[in-house]
Amino acid sequence: ALPVVAIVGATGAVGVELLECLEQRDFPLSELRLLASARSAGKTMTFKGKEITIRALDENSFDGVDIALFSAGGSISKVYGPIAVKAGAVVVDNSSAFRQDPNVPLVVPEVNPEAVKQHQGIIANPNCSTIIALVPLWPLHVKNRITRFIAATYQAASGAGAAAMEELREGTRAYLEGRPFTPTVLPHPYAFNLFSHNAKVDPANGYNEEEMKMVKETWKIFGDADIRISATCVRVPVLRAHSEALTVEFERPITPAEVKDILATAPGVRIVDDVEKNYFPMPVDASGQGDILVGRIRQDISDPSGRSIQLFVAGDQLLKGAALNAVQIAELL
Ligand code: A2P
Repeated sequence: ALPVVAIVGATGAVGVELLECLEQRDFPLSELRLLASARSAGKTMTFKGKEITIRALDENSFDGVDIALFSAGGSISKVYGPIAVKAGAVVVDNSSAFRQDPNVPLVVPEVNPEAVKQHQGIIANPNCSTIIALVPLWPLHVKNRITRFIAATYQAASGAGAAAMEELREGTRAYLEGRPFTPTVLPHPYAFNLFSHNAKVDPANGYNEEEMKMVKETWKIFGDADIRISATCVRVPVLRAHSEALTVEFERPITPAEVKDILATAPGVRIVDDVEKNYFPMPVDASGQGDILVGRIRQDISDPSGRSIQLFVAGDQLLKGAALNAVQIAELL
């Protein structure tokens, strides 16, 4: 029989995209169960032309569920993930709750699909900035080991949820109309501004949690904890696609032509690198599509050994950075 699939957090920024991905990819299922908070219970969402009534999440929500896609925040995952597993479901969790658990595979299907087999009920979907960097970096790493990379991110509001996207719209409107606006979701004014990622900063090393996720999750997904990584994560006033500047050092010398060659056939990657037109990856172009856009492919002139490359990438945070990757994991199941 076809699986029963549940979305936990169906009304959220990622939840809506999960439903959309299941529909567009014609995911084989016999029932789609939509779960959210009591606030949303009774409302409906449309899946393949049919209205489905949203139910309030509770201990009995997972009876008969085979695959549960979680995107309602880490605290909900911690409480209800194990309940879903006990009910017999395999959980694909979009939060960071279980990502570093050694019993939980952390999966980007283009990178480590075989890790799915090791699951003990829960599979974690990586951090969005991590996924968007690793889809293009993996095929390069396979050909010429990456020894170090440095990332600077330009992250969209969507990573902080639907309310943050709305706050960006509202704050921008207020700014243009000259009205005062006090942000309530994000810690700083967002319109015509940018700020260091609002994740907690570790006073011991000065890095915020988002930056350390990129470091530790890359080690786990690549199965290589010798790669030296550092990141600066910044939120920019963009709705739903993250961009990243990546400086990547390889074991052996490498040229931009080789990188383009490798990435031309890499799954989930599209090269956007038109030097003549000055046309490169942009969040508006990445929004709404599954591929990671890669451009500005050039030798890092600060490394005379010829082993370093610079790239600029953009990817839809809600799709490949979250919902699409989760649905691809479910497809592997
Ligand atoms: P709801 O819309 O009913 O509040 P986002 O990441 O965009 O902020 O979305 C969060 C998702 O998590 C929403 O679908 C939200 O549902 C859901 N959610 C938040 N709190 C709970 C809760 N206590 N129980 C179930 N779902 C929750």
